[in-house]
Amino acid sequence: MAERPEPVSDLDWEPQRARAFVDAVADIYEELLSRLPDLPVIVHEGLEQVRAGVVVDVPDEPTPEAELVDYLRRMTFEHSAFLGHPRFYAYVSGSGTVPGAAAELLAAGINMNAGGWRLAPSAVEIEMALTRWFAQQMFGMPEGAAGAFTSGGAMANLIALKIARDSRAGWDIRAEGVAAGPPLGFYLSSETHVVSDRAADMLGVGAANVRHVPVDDGYRMRADVLREMIVRDRADGMRPIAVVANAGTVSTGAVDDLEAVAGICRDEGIWMHVDAAYGGPAMLADDLRPLFAGIEHADSIAFDPHKWLYTPHSGGCVLVRDLELMRRSFDLEYVSYILKDEEHTDWGIDLGRHSPNFSRGFWSLKVWVSLLAHGRDAYARRISHDAGLARYLGDIVEEREDFELMTPVGLSITCFRYVPSELPASGAEGREEYLDLLNERIMTEIQLGGRVYCSNAVLHGRFCLRSCIVNYRTEADDVEALVDIAAELVDERVAKGRASGYEFVIAEADGRIMGYACYGPTPATKDTVDLYWIVVGADAQGRGIGREILARTEAAVRLAGGRRLYVDTSGTEKYAPTRAYYRRTGFRKVAELPDFYAEGDSKVILVKDITP
Ligand SMILES: Cc1ncc(COP(=O)(O)O)c(C=O)c1O
Repeated sequence: MAERPEPVSDLDWEPQRARAFVDAVADIYEELLSRLPDLPVIVHEGLEQVRAGVVVDVPDEPTPEAELVDYLRRMTFEHSAFLGHPRFYAYVSGSGTVPGAAAELLAAGINMNAGGWRLAPSAVEIEMALTRWFAQQMFGMPEGAAGAFTSGGAMANLIALKIARDSRAGWDIRAEGVAAGPPLGFYLSSETHVVSDRAADMLGVGAANVRHVPVDDGYRMRADVLREMIVRDRADGMRPIAVVANAGTVSTGAVDDLEAVAGICRDEGIWMHVDAAYGGPAMLADDLRPLFAGIEHADSIAFDPHKWLYTPHSGGCVLVRDLELMRRSFDLEYVSYILKDEEHTDWGIDLGRHSPNFSRGFWSLKVWVSLLAHGRDAYARRISHDAGLARYLGDIVEEREDFELMTPVGLSITCFRYVPSELPASGAEGREEYLDLLNERIMTEIQLGGRVYCSNAVLHGRFCLRSCIVNYRTEADDVEALVDIAAELVDERVAKGRASGYEFVIAEADGRIMGYACYGPTPATKDTVDLYWIVVGADAQGRGIGREILARTEAAVRLAGGRRLYVDTSGTEKYAPTRAYYRRTGFRKVAELPDFYAEGDSKVILVKDITP
């Protein structure tokens, strides 16, 4: 017989010790909340600095708690991004609710497994109640509608489209596979988030069978074209099975005409899925809800509490008109090690049978506790306020001479760009390309600067700055700061460029000149610029441009009569050209350039010497 094992209790902390550690972590959280408005939005560091700051060897022996807390504090304040900062406007990133953060701790502390009812009775019943509430009370779906929590919107869309595929293919696709029938058609709009394309790929539908329906002036799916495409594809032997309509597109916040899409889906017997990952919670706000008329007809809806319900990352949600279809799409009969005596118990459903996840945590608690703590009305007020702030930002940029609103504000998204007041009126050659590059630079400088943080959209091929407010901490002065700081950065940049004595024009590596200046107040053109050339020698990942591109670039430089070459290694000395390189190529090095951000691996930049 084996020897009786002695206790091994290293990992088993006393409750007092647990409490002390949690208190110390809570202190960091309190400090974060107090300092948040004064912190940079993102602590800007390069890869190496972050690695050096956070990666340590896994120790053999315990790290003393004081040391560990100190480490966590430094990780938090010195190497993190603060998406809950009142001036964070990028992508669609909720700010994180305070009750939600506390709920996460408790959920981890109880440590249930919501994959099985017996392992998480309260978690499963809360999740079911909440998904029923979202489906039926918030979105107006009928009785029987419910769903499940997911890791985020990507997973919610994938799950919904899997159910659509399985229930509309017309054969037992789970058993026989996609090859057993005709090609299946998915219909997205050109504005639908890429995660639905990826879902189609993962489901074996094939990119060639995903249609991107064009949009109207308001970036809404053209319902008339959708109908034509479906009819044509069917005549060509495809089986159209699912439409992904948008309730808040990621670029502009557009909401498709959901009534019209629902009508087409009904007529054509097609599954209507709505990607409401971003826009969904606007159903709580009286002034925004009418935009979503028709969403109640959806067969499935994806929406993300971690976006506009502000709950901590991550947590999305998939809702299905008929929950039974969800079980049928994911259930497996052969799990022999899980015996469930349904006859002698009144246990509820096992969420592990309803989605790709098997074991999983108490994902709904942070959302549930946030809704309980704040109540529906406060949510409605704040969501409506976010949309109001986005419209206010739209008005500010419309009023200013040096900014331009690029599309009407959609939900809480404002797309705009900086346009120097002295720029020639629209139609001038190179103007649009110049503005693209200028605004690209402004965005990058905004992001590097860390005082405010926005991202971009590309609308009709044009680069815009984009602000999305899903943040209960943002107020009017924060919104004003975004525009003011953008303008300030341009002023600084122009001054710096002028002081440096250079202006820039950018061309492709093959010598094709794209025809715009980076930082000058007006676009330079090929004719106004002396041909001094720069190769940007490393891409954003610092990989260097490679021999082939360098050789092509050199040839282009010579062809164009370039005399000097600057290889910008974007911060990595590794690729800096040697003296021998300059000797061999006959180029002279341009040493004194303003610090200069350029992404991409194959740009040639012409420099005009404007030194007085
Ligand atoms: C409309 C839309 N759908 C899907 C997604 C993907 O969601 P997630 O990032 O939570 O996976 C996003 C993300 O921004 C989105 O805006």
